[in-house]
Parts: sequence; C-alpha cells; structure tokens
Amino acid sequence: MAPQSLIEQIGGESVIRILVDKFYDYMDQLPEVEVIRKLHQEDLTEAREKLFEFLVGWSGGPPLYISKYGHPRLRMRHMPFPIGEKERDQWMLCMRKALEDSEIDPSVKARLDGQFLHIADFMKNIDG
Ligand code: HEM
Repeated sequence: MAPQSLIEQIGGESVIRILVDKFYDYMDQLPEVEVIRKLHQEDLTEAREKLFEFLVGWSGGPPLYISKYGHPRLRMRHMPFPIGEKERDQWMLCMRKALEDSEIDPSVKARLDGQFLHIADFMKNIDG
C-alpha cells in the first residue's frame, strides 16, 4: 500500500478548511494577537482562502494556490509586514489553538506544529 500523503493523514481538504477558519477566528478574537491582526486587512475572507489554497497544495493536494498566483515565495510575500519573534509567536498561538481544536491525529498534529514553526520562523524579517 502506498504511504499516505500528508493531506490524507490530515483528513482531506475539509479538515484543512476547518483548521484555517479556526486559525483566523482566533486571530480575530484573541486580544493577545492584536499585533498580527492589525497587519491583516479588516476583511479576512481573502486571507482565509489563500491560506487554505496554499496548505492544500503544500500538504500534497491539488496545487490550488500555485495555479492562481504562481510560486508562493512566502518569505518575499511577507516582506511588506514587519515579522519578528513576537509576530511569529502570535501566529503560532493561533495555529496551535486551531490544531488543538481539530480532529487531526495527535502524531500528525505534532508534525504539523513543527513544520509550521519552521516556516513561521523563516518569515522573520526584523529583530525582536
Ligand atoms: C510568522 C508570522 C506570520 C505573519 C505575521 C503573517 C502575516 C501575513 C499577512 C499580514 C498576510 C497578508 C494577509 C492580508 O492580505 O490580509 C499574509 C499572507 C499570507 N500568509 Fe502569512 N504570516 C505569517 C506566517 C505565515 C506562515 C507560517 C504561513 C504558511 C504556513 C503563511 C502563509 C500565508 C499565505 C499563503 C498568505 C497569502 C500570500 C499572498 O498570496 O498574498 N503565513 N500573512
């Protein structure tokens, strides 16, 4: 039997959709992440859609993001926003809470946590 892709281990696109929605709900609601909330547009609809499309492709599903916007070049696309440790940690707080809420298998959650932390750390473009 072929090994399962990450998106299969996660539980498919519908699970990613719920994860991303929870993530932005936390970003919108938690007072302790207001620094990153203010970096985003008032309306989070587009951000929700783009992160969903990105994560589907990133985890081995159809390349929804790339087919619309080309290569993600995530670090470059985040350059307009000052991202230091504080912003990284606020992003991870929302993602960790969204992961906790999700029905994803605990070992897959732990793997995702590590990979998101790696990408979020790579986004840093200011000190502190
Ligand atoms: C480290 C802290 C991070 C901060 C503060 C941050 C902030 C932002 C902001 C402000 C935007 C623009 C959203 C808007 O237009 O309202 C954005 C877009 C985006 N972010 Fe992040 N982000 C972070 C980490 C990440 C990580 C770890 C990922 C992937 C796992 C990611 C994936 C994306 C994607 C796919 C977009 C859409 C890019 C585009 O096409 O414009 N971000 N982010």
